[in-house]
Formats: sequence, C-alpha cells, structure tokens
Amino acid sequence: MKSVFVTRRIHESGIALLKKAGYKVDVYAKDQIIERKELLRGVKGRDAVLSLLTDRIDAEVLDAAGPQLKIVANFAVGFDNMDLKAAAERKIVVTNTPSDKVNESVAEHTFALMLSLARRIPEADHFSKRGMYKGWSPSLLNGADLYGKTLGLIGAGRIGSMVARRAVKGFDMKLVYSDMRPNEALEKEYGAKKLTQDALLKKADFISLHVPLLPSTRHMISAKQFALMKPTAFLVNTARGPVVDEKALLKALKAKKIAGAGLDVFECEPAIDCDLRDNLELKAFENVILTPHIASATEEARRDMSEIAAKNIIAVLKGKAPLTPAKVG
Ligand code: GLV
Repeated sequence: MKSVFVTRRIHESGIALLKKAGYKVDVYAKDQIIERKELLRGVKGRDAVLSLLTDRIDAEVLDAAGPQLKIVANFAVGFDNMDLKAAAERKIVVTNTPSDKVNESVAEHTFALMLSLARRIPEADHFSKRGMYKGWSPSLLNGADLYGKTLGLIGAGRIGSMVARRAVKGFDMKLVYSDMRPNEALEKEYGAKKLTQDALLKKADFISLHVPLLPSTRHMISAKQFALMKPTAFLVNTARGPVVDEKALLKALKAKKIAGAGLDVFECEPAIDCDLRDNLELKAFENVILTPHIASATEEARRDMSEIAAKNIIAVLKGKAPLTPAKVG
C-alpha cells in the first residue's frame, strides 16, 4: 500500500481523496509547524509527502524519505521552501496549488489591504470601539479614494491579473505594471501600460507586489525604490516577505517617504519585525496594516488547495503527469 505523509492538518477534502485512492495517509498529529526532526522521521519510507510552505524541503528531507519517494506536493502557490534542484536530481516531482480559486482569494485579500489602508479601517474601528466618536466631523479620519488612482502591479501573472480586474472593473483605477514579459491580455482588456519598475514606482498611488521569491526578487523593494515612490503611495505585499527590505521600509515609514503599507507577509516570518535594535517596529505605525499570511485563508481556497495537492499526489503515484508542477517563470 502506498503511503503519504501530510505535515500538518489541512482541509479534510484532500485527505478524503487520498484515502479513497487507497493510500495509507498519516497526518502529523500536532496542529503546529512540524519540527525538523519530526519531519525527517515522518517522511521516512513514504511514496508522497504533502508539505506546507513552512516546511523546508531540501536534500536532507528527500534523502530521509528514501528512494521510493515520488512527489512532494506543496500546499501553497509559492514554493520557495522547496529545493527544486535537489528534487530534480532525485527525479522527485514537486507541485504547488496555483488554482484560480486560490488566486482569486489572494487578489481579494490584496484589495482588502488596499481599501483598509486607503480608508483607514483598522484605525476607524479602534477609534469607534474605544468610545472616541463624539460626533461627525469634516476632518475625522479622512483617507484616500481608490477611484481614479493608479495601481502599479509589480508582477503581472495570474494573481496580478486578478487584482487588475478588480482595480479596473470595480474601482475605475488606472493600471501600470512591470514584469519581465509583456502581458498583452492585461493591456488589451484593462488598458494596462507596461513601465520600467522605476517609472512605475514614480507613478503609482498603490503598489502591489505579485512576484515569487527568487534570488532576483529578494529585496526588490529597498531604499532606492522607496525614494522613488510618491509620499502619498501605499505599498501592499501579499507575495513573500523578503521581496521587501523591511529595514528600508521602516526607514521610509519613519521619514514619511510613503503613506503606508499593508503587509500579509514578513521578512523574518513568523516574526513581525526582524530586528528591534534600532527601535523601529512595524507594529508601531498606525498607517501599517499587518495580517498574518492569510491571503488565501478562505474556506473555499483552502479546500481547493487540499484537493489539488491530493490530486497531484494521486496522478503521480499512478504514473501520470502532475496537474500543477512547480515551475519558475
Ligand atoms: C501562500 O503564501 C501561498 O503561496 O499559497
């Protein structure tokens, strides 16, 4: 009987598919990030591993599993936690979960952050709950409109395009983007203009990041990039924390080089701040909204992710091609 190790409890629907396919399925018993030594023990002798973005899957893990391991199915769109080269050398398939449902959830969360920043929703919520509302005022918690503003997408792939649709169809925003390749559909359907990244940073009122974490995207947004942004610009990151140089972000916020930031991911995750030595912390800024890596955390998306990961495992263990192999570019 083929055996599958799942590194943490996930939506039951995928587990049910694996069991229906006749596999022995073991889910790590504790609902917490699996410790390294338990991961190394858990994968031993398995034909498939269903991993999370919090698990570092490298040569040591693949070798601990043994030569029968055929697939590691990552329960995430991103796969910067996986050593693809080590997997390829061992002929192990790596998959991710980039479905439309999941991407729409991430795009929605991106918008939730943009709206919350622009309309100061968390501040307004605290204000109301603390009993501070004493009567309507023309200058109470004035924010900014999205309507008519320019959204700059850094990365115009699937998630970026879904954010674009919301921006243009829902909010009449203007659209600019930077990417390695032109996105003709985005240009045709939404009138998007491709710019260099520097030109985009100068022009956009909202800047949203939709690139994978790669050596080339680490600290893609740093001091030089903050210096180009408008002082009224908002930055949103639902991609990966290290794409933004957090130290440079803190300095930019302190110097009011930008109007605010909405972050779902952090450079030293799960720590919100990497380093408190200079007494600057993200939590201290009212114009910074922090969510704990929940952009795809909807019932619908998590069910889909669970099922896609399971279907990838079933396909590969049956000798078929995976549905969604992890691919760079
Ligand atoms: C979440 O960050 C994901 O990559 O799915």
